[in-house]
Amino acid sequence: MKEQTPYHEDQELDNNNSENTHFNDILEQYISRRDLIKKTASGAIALAIATSATATSIPFRHPRPHKHRPTESGTRPEKLTFTPVAKNKLDVVTVPEGYDVKVLYRLGDAIHPALNDWDDNNIPSGPSFQFRSGDCHDGIHFFGLNSRTKQVDDRVSSEGLLVMNHEYINPTFLHPKGPTKVDGHRPEDEVIRETNAHGVSIIHIRKDDATQDVNLVKHSIFNRRITATTLMQFEGPAAGSKLLATAFSPKGVRTRGTHNNCGNGYTPWGTYLTTEENFIGYFQRSKEDDNKRPAHEIAALARYGLKAGSSSRYGWESAVGKLQPQDLYDRWVADVKKSSEKLDYRNGPNTFGWMVEIDPFDIKHHPVKRTALGRFAHEDSACRAVAGQPLAFYMGDDSRGEYIYKYVSDAVWNPRDSKGGYKAGDKYMNRGRLYVAKFNQNGTGEWIELTHGKNGLNASNKVYPFTSQADVVTFARMAADSVGATRMDRPEWCSIHPETGEVYVTLTNNSNRGTNYPTDAANPRNYQDLYGGTKTQKGNVNGHVIRFKEVNDQTTATRFEWDIYLFGAEAGMNPNINLSGLTDNNDFSSPDGMAFDSRGILWLQTDDSAYTDVTNCMMLAALPGFVGDGTTATTSSGQLTRVGAKVNDSNLRRFLVGPKEAEITGITLTPDNKAIFVNIQHPGEESASFDQPNSHWPATQANAGNTTARPRSATIVITRKDGGLIAG
Ligand code: FEO
Ligand code: CA
Ligand code: CA
Ligand code: CA
Repeated sequence: MKEQTPYHEDQELDNNNSENTHFNDILEQYISRRDLIKKTASGAIALAIATSATATSIPFRHPRPHKHRPTESGTRPEKLTFTPVAKNKLDVVTVPEGYDVKVLYRLGDAIHPALNDWDDNNIPSGPSFQFRSGDCHDGIHFFGLNSRTKQVDDRVSSEGLLVMNHEYINPTFLHPKGPTKVDGHRPEDEVIRETNAHGVSIIHIRKDDATQDVNLVKHSIFNRRITATTLMQFEGPAAGSKLLATAFSPKGVRTRGTHNNCGNGYTPWGTYLTTEENFIGYFQRSKEDDNKRPAHEIAALARYGLKAGSSSRYGWESAVGKLQPQDLYDRWVADVKKSSEKLDYRNGPNTFGWMVEIDPFDIKHHPVKRTALGRFAHEDSACRAVAGQPLAFYMGDDSRGEYIYKYVSDAVWNPRDSKGGYKAGDKYMNRGRLYVAKFNQNGTGEWIELTHGKNGLNASNKVYPFTSQADVVTFARMAADSVGATRMDRPEWCSIHPETGEVYVTLTNNSNRGTNYPTDAANPRNYQDLYGGTKTQKGNVNGHVIRFKEVNDQTTATRFEWDIYLFGAEAGMNPNINLSGLTDNNDFSSPDGMAFDSRGILWLQTDDSAYTDVTNCMMLAALPGFVGDGTTATTSSGQLTRVGAKVNDSNLRRFLVGPKEAEITGITLTPDNKAIFVNIQHPGEESASFDQPNSHWPATQANAGNTTARPRSATIVITRKDGGLIAG
């Protein structure tokens, strides 16, 4: 963190005067000056125009009515026929011939008509980011909007709410001159910009039925941001428990904000699920704190990555509260400071790491952290809904050697709840059973139940003294440790094949496979590869995709069969490493984002640093078969495993390559499968400083020769020039 900007008091609200003037001029059309800033229920400052409840001052113009005719969304193609995109290191998004790329929603873009556009040389104020795109776009989902009822309608493609995560920030380009620290304190405006640049965006878009052109509806009342300070409530077994008690909510029923929202999910009742992945790094914990806690608390903090003496990633705790209560910064210090957990933030880390439900159509109620689904580095989730069966949510915990989980609702799925909002969430997500996966060597597997009082999850458990289900879900990793779950190669996204119901999970890579984590049949590779001709990479360098089929096709099954659908590799690697037979048209490394579309095309995205000496990150399209369509194989390290059928470039083909130093993540299509939305995260992330960017994307998308623009994460939309089906 650089200490390069002198601190001036007038920087606190808007350290960019020209922006401020322009902003206020417009704003005064709507509100009086004294109302400009107000405090929200979370204590955070807000633009007076900001909360949806006050948005009556901004008229919501009704969109033009349009017909909701069912659209032809296509069927699963026999083979992929688009021109494969060649591996490349260009600073643009490349797609097949016949397709268009439009940059739709970039870091800092305004979602309110009263705000001016982002300007590279005049970065907008921190508070204004409450109505601007956050940074590091990630998981994303399109919800069709019925313009008459204002409710979700999964038949509508011409209008909808696009909901997406902003996983974290790249402070180098978020601030005028990178992040600063003055006399040991982060300037408050920078911290407010950073907390506002986290969380979730909900944006209203329209797609032209004829041209497929997609545009943001900037004046819509649905446009809003969920940030790292938005008020949220807890539901499920841990809600109201002592473990979630803080000075802000002594009863442990509320908290402020969500952060590090990585992959996403969505429910069959029309709500969005955002995940809290690497949440722990936002906290500081002093060296002395271990002296003030019992052994089981110290063990739990360490298991989630917050050892005594840990410093925080962005230093939010160092801000001096002049615009917002000091408490909003102090809460990032997870120390025992007072006589009770009701008076300090020792439990701060327990209030993150959950699955969070957001109803994009409900602008009145707070998002809900659904604690029944467990607390870990949540990456993504996929829900299988079969009428008359309980719902199953499949979820990954993305860290080396972590687990795959399943949550099964007590209530059976009733399709009449398909527009049920948070009420349906209460019905299906507050009561159910959490399981963790164990993969056996012979291709079978089992789900081990994580319920208090079962499988040794009780007060005499040696890993953690579990006294309640609140303990089990809050320390789900420790519950899973004690029942012997299988340590996986970093589980990322999950998706369910729409025809077979089989569940796919990306396992992105694991540099410690073969050392700290011995190979097993489900994580079978340990090999070496050179990066840039010099650096040796080890373990499971390129990652794989595992899949499983529940016994008797039941969401409640406690046993399954599995195989490995696909192994990442370089085309030129030995066949006992390149076990899926990848070629130059489809070789890839580090699978991460992954989703089936409604036709059964699997979209696979990479977040890679192992093959980036040869190519930027990418997205591929695939037509997978089924569990057991292949055979057994022995890897280069001598591990026997079960491999799916070898692929060819008719059923796995590269569709997109991203710009420099960007991850490709987030996949959603309109129901007609004529527009696909993808997020381009952190272009130029390895840049040394704000004035020496390694990437100039997205400006390069319109002008490949641009050499001055700042890189910005953004959502793109890809359509076909002839208006046809994507990959159809
Ligand atoms: Fe945020 Fe595991 O990727
Ligand atoms: Ca290599
Ligand atoms: Ca990811
Ligand atoms: Ca990743």
